[in-house]
Amino acid sequence: MITSCVETKREPHTFSAGDKTFLLDGNPFVIKAAEMHYTRIPAEYWEHRIKMCKALGMNTICIYAFWNIHEQKPGIFDFSGQNDIAEFCRLVQKNDMYIILRPGPYVCSEWEMGGLPWWLLKKDNIQLRTNDSYFLERTRLFMNKLGELLADKQVTRGGNIIMVQVENEYGAFAVDKGYMANIRNAVKDAGFTEIPLFQCDWSSTFQLNGLEDLLWTINFGTGANIDEQFKKLKEVRPNTPLMCSEFWSGWFDHWGRKHETRDAETMVLGIKDMLDRNISFSLYMTHGGTTFGHWGGANSPAYSAMCSSYDYDAPISEAGWATPKYYKLRELLMQYADSSQMIPDVPEAYPLINIPRFEVNQVAPLFQNLPEPKFSENIKPMEKFDQGWGAILYRTSLPKVTEGTTLLIDEVCDWAQIYVDGIFLGCMDRHYGQNTLLLPALREGAQLDILVEAMGRVNFGMAIHDRKGITQKVELLTDNGNQELKNWSVYCFPVDYSFAKSKKYIMENKLDNPAYYRATFKLDKVGDVFLNMETWGKGMVWVNGKNIGRFWRIGPQQTLFMPGCWLKVGQNEIIIFDILGPNKAVVEGLKEPILDDLSAEVSTTHRTEGQNLNLQIEKPIATGVLKQGNGWQEVLFDKAMKGRYFCLLALDAQNGGNEAAIAEFYLLGEDGKPLPRQHWKIIYADSESTCDGNFTADKIYDLQESTYWKTSKEDKYPHQFIIAMQDEVMISGFRILPRVEECCPGMIKHYKAYVKSVPFEF
Ligand code: GLA
Repeated sequence: MITSCVETKREPHTFSAGDKTFLLDGNPFVIKAAEMHYTRIPAEYWEHRIKMCKALGMNTICIYAFWNIHEQKPGIFDFSGQNDIAEFCRLVQKNDMYIILRPGPYVCSEWEMGGLPWWLLKKDNIQLRTNDSYFLERTRLFMNKLGELLADKQVTRGGNIIMVQVENEYGAFAVDKGYMANIRNAVKDAGFTEIPLFQCDWSSTFQLNGLEDLLWTINFGTGANIDEQFKKLKEVRPNTPLMCSEFWSGWFDHWGRKHETRDAETMVLGIKDMLDRNISFSLYMTHGGTTFGHWGGANSPAYSAMCSSYDYDAPISEAGWATPKYYKLRELLMQYADSSQMIPDVPEAYPLINIPRFEVNQVAPLFQNLPEPKFSENIKPMEKFDQGWGAILYRTSLPKVTEGTTLLIDEVCDWAQIYVDGIFLGCMDRHYGQNTLLLPALREGAQLDILVEAMGRVNFGMAIHDRKGITQKVELLTDNGNQELKNWSVYCFPVDYSFAKSKKYIMENKLDNPAYYRATFKLDKVGDVFLNMETWGKGMVWVNGKNIGRFWRIGPQQTLFMPGCWLKVGQNEIIIFDILGPNKAVVEGLKEPILDDLSAEVSTTHRTEGQNLNLQIEKPIATGVLKQGNGWQEVLFDKAMKGRYFCLLALDAQNGGNEAAIAEFYLLGEDGKPLPRQHWKIIYADSESTCDGNFTADKIYDLQESTYWKTSKEDKYPHQFIIAMQDEVMISGFRILPRVEECCPGMIKHYKAYVKSVPFEF
């Protein structure tokens, strides 16, 4: 039961930016903020998590507002129950903590489309996060709604909001001060006028869109060289209060990639370093929680969707437990408590239960439970059928198909299963750029079914314009030319519980087809529990009507956090949509999560056993020496060269060690500007460290400056990686960013670069 807390009238205060410090009522104040998201915590548990942050020694909670969960249909706003952001802020104030509000409109956050509503994509030419008039108009409507709820909660009016952020890391997206000014104005016009407004960015990008009248803060993660991170900012604004607006405690997990962790000791040292210099911070995430339902986002390139667990290796675990990282940090923060700050005892965790294994024995096969179709001559993405999330089936009849014909699907967003006359022929995974399937000979009139499941929309970079289903066309490729397939019957499978519940369930043992599965189970007591989905294929789970998230057998997440507050004593209901079908239709509840179990079928590294690159026969386009030091470096070749394959050979490290590491890497085109990396693939890396973390070579183009490729300790120089591009391009040089830590571990010294039109030899 959520108990709404009574609004108590409080005294107004002031909060401002003073000379090198924030000022609360005129007195110096260091912000120690804990980031967590009301959407990722059951509302029933909000106060527990707030108290956990307070007991950690924090004085502020930092939150995003997630536009797309509040306005799921245009013009229909929901700020109730789980979406009651005002109630969340009230609970924070009840516990004598402040709020930093980050209302977007874009929030990134590994959240579906970075918090933007999918229905914006119904407009063909919409340009998100620009001055596109429709985008700005809808942004303003949302911002005003937030203002109605929250502007009175500014500290100046007796509330607890001390700062509001404008946009989010815009410098990592584009350069457009006019757009930033528009968003700032929208925030102000919504009523946030009495407290500091700020922009957050990376040290490498904060100047690109910095507005004179806003505060500038910097985001970076555990291990970063803090001096270096603030160097530029201190130069351009010597008197500004310093704040790390996102200090990353851990990192997020993708399907099919190793579980991410960050060292506790290093995180605590980073915070100590900041506190010693009076630098304010927000620890992102202090409690990550769970991205319930279909709300997880994705990164690109290469497209890869987020897991449902947003544990983040944060100090407070997904289920709200105090971890060893929590206690280490608490010890530090106790030493830095303000004189007025009472650090309470750590609240107890909620009780846990086991659920003995039970069978899920009711089945509603998808193909026998088709909804009413819609007809469309041309293939179209799901948004055009007014569907936001879920799966979609495209059906048409084939002409006579001769053996050797290829089916091309352009583009699969994000996972497709292909059937002819009900027989499964294969799948395509956008992550691997798969879009073709060799067909057998088929009779004229055979029924082609393409079932596409949408994973999360991309939440970072230009790829946020991420339409789902099939976005362009479907063709048969034959020796006599290409034939586009038309005249589709289209069936939509939304993610609503009511839709899943309404299927016709029968008792069945046949498990290998996409289906909805249902069971009831009895509990004599409730408590938090982790549902083990290891025997299931790919899909999502509803318990007692709540969509608790996605599962996918490839891992690394194998269990789903099931909050006890959503379970009942007596009968409970579970519905599972499984597009692949389970090996065994059973579920059990565990007391520990499994977040780090990648299935053996997934290879995350880029070298096959015994594969050795032969560069003896190749002539480098450039040979040179890189400088030691943090920050970007640029290398220009004597002349540009055309090619599709690029290889960097690293000969030794600046520090003489074994290890090579690169955070980000761009190739430069003929005009000296970075080439797009959307369709890059790493086709070889001699060594990639995956034992102590997730350091594969594709990290060099994942757009994230804090993640990196690192070779394994035991593998000696030379090191190499090869990038394959989609087409041939002119390459005139490269830009390279070493790791952000002090001394740039693994920074390469001598290198050779190779460009080729045909693949390298092994
Ligand atoms: C950036 C974004 C956050 C989040 C983190 C990574 O800093 O601002 O929303 O995506 O990266 O977790």
